[in-house]
Amino acid sequence: MNEQPLRQSEGQEPILRTVDLRKGYTRGRGWRGKRQHVQSLQGIDLQVRAGQSLALIGASGSGKSTLARCLAGLERPDSGELWIAGRNCGYSSHSREFTQVHLIFQDCGLSTNPRFTASEIVSEPLLISHWGTRAERTDRAINLMKTVGLPADAAGRRAGEFSGGQRRRLAVARALALEPRVLILDEALAGLDLSTQGQMANLLLEIQQARALTYLWISHDLSLVLRLASEIAVMDEGRIVESASVREWFAGPRSPQGQDLLQASRAWRSGAER
Ligand SMILES: Nc1ncnc2c1ncn2[C@@H]1O[C@H](COP(=O)(O)OP(=O)(O)O)[C@@H](O)[C@H]1O
Ligand SMILES: [Mg+2]
Repeated sequence: MNEQPLRQSEGQEPILRTVDLRKGYTRGRGWRGKRQHVQSLQGIDLQVRAGQSLALIGASGSGKSTLARCLAGLERPDSGELWIAGRNCGYSSHSREFTQVHLIFQDCGLSTNPRFTASEIVSEPLLISHWGTRAERTDRAINLMKTVGLPADAAGRRAGEFSGGQRRRLAVARALALEPRVLILDEALAGLDLSTQGQMANLLLEIQQARALTYLWISHDLSLVLRLASEIAVMDEGRIVESASVREWFAGPRSPQGQDLLQASRAWRSGAER
């Protein structure tokens, strides 16, 4: 693959860049005991600039979560390149660059032991990367919990004692522990009631401002995406089929898949308003 100079408007290296990223799965026994191959990512070329707020949308099964996991180093692509802050991560999920990217998903990734206390959950990434002493880690966890608006006495409470909204806040605190530069939010606000969702969205936007973070919003909820992101990329069958600014896109998606998504969302909303 030849190394062309990047043509970025600010002349800045993108914080995330992929070149022809591919990932497939072989699963089950399939029909007549045959193994089935699913090509989830079919050559993703993506560039995300630092500070950008990008929405990644697409029908269910289009490969959004697979891409998210590859970008966060939780899964190995089969081929292609992944660059984080100008460094090629190769195929090693142990690459240090991945501490700069944190993925938050709908079940919060708090599937750790429900008996862990909040401060243990939030400081776990610090423990794993041998950061500070136990007391320093607890201190940092308490500060992070403050940042996400959890009460001071939350630190000693068990994960199972938190409400859905509070668990999302915990997940955000944990995500911030290693000071990542990119947060990938995979349906991170799904399944919350509207007012909790609004509060979480505002909190995440404040955190983004305060820490100059780059966000990748993955959501099927287009009204949410409109409020949160400034740019949009549409995925279909493992490919990015369209990218545009949110304003441009809502005025008229160019890809048939984008048009379908927007139409479905409008139909759903007008149904819900009736
Ligand atoms: N761990 C896995 N094993 C087998 N197939 C998978 C796995 N993860 C995802 N897939 C398949 O890859 C495709 C894309 O899935 P996914 O990335 O979850 O899409 P999305 O998040 O857009 O709904 C789907 O066909 C899905 O069934
Ligand atoms: Mg998904």
